[in-house]
Amino acid sequence: MGIVNEGNITDVVIESLGKYGDISDRQREIMTSLIKHMHGFVKDVKLQHSEFLEACSYLERAGKLCNENRQEFILLGDILGVEVLVDMMTNPVDGKTSESTVLGPFYRENPPVLPKGASTIQKHFDNEETAYYEGYIRDENGKGIAGVTMDVWEDAPNGVYENLDPDQPEYNLRGRFETDENGHYAFVAVRPVPYPIPEDETAGELLRYMGHHPNRPGHMHFIISKDAYRPLISQIFDAESEWLENDSVFAVKDSLIGTFKPASADLGTDLHFEFDFVLQAEAGALAAE
Ligand code: BEZ
Ligand code: FE
Repeated sequence: MGIVNEGNITDVVIESLGKYGDISDRQREIMTSLIKHMHGFVKDVKLQHSEFLEACSYLERAGKLCNENRQEFILLGDILGVEVLVDMMTNPVDGKTSESTVLGPFYRENPPVLPKGASTIQKHFDNEETAYYEGYIRDENGKGIAGVTMDVWEDAPNGVYENLDPDQPEYNLRGRFETDENGHYAFVAVRPVPYPIPEDETAGELLRYMGHHPNRPGHMHFIISKDAYRPLISQIFDAESEWLENDSVFAVKDSLIGTFKPASADLGTDLHFEFDFVLQAEAGALAAE
């Protein structure tokens, strides 16, 4: 079947899969669904050729923006809610372990390794609210896990991440901590403030095309990892933050919202934030204990 018309074009393309080269079952599954959905979309909106060319030129411009500091396609995927959906497919909610959410583009490898309770603050801002973050990282049986690595990073009180702000010291508000023998972690940082994701160039074009805004609610990022457990990439959100109900990248989950409370004098910070995590053991890890 090679002669096409509007009625058979989708089947013709799908039937061509694997005809001139081996493809795996997964490749066939992905391509079949992609072709069905793309053809469905084109028919749905009766896409015109001028619009197709505009889309190609848009993708060309997006591609030219990509470099080691800016991954434009991840950003576009975030604005469309695709990264958060992929994360949901990769790390399904099981009701027992902590929920994940998007990594975002601002993680830096090898942050400063700091002792439990130390501060990530290297520069002070007039509007900052300092906070003591602490909690337990446990397994599914409720047992604290010792020696868990926890990378944390957040924006500064001016709404900018350190690596995008020439006026902040390197690795400001970033750190790597470890849980103690009871699975307890603690560090000092600031209350994160809402900030806009990059809204220049093609990301901004997409936001405007969608009639959406660029803002994210205040959040602290985490990567929590330990051998024999699934790494947890997540964020915790300030219950009182603006944009909580309307995050530009759709990454807020109910279970990740926490409350900043006034700190007691012994903590030496303005606020206190307590949050516990539960890690999912890799298959067989708990049994081997
Ligand atoms: C962030 O949380 O840092 C982020 C996530 C997705 C897109 C842009 C920023
Ligand atoms: Fe962020």
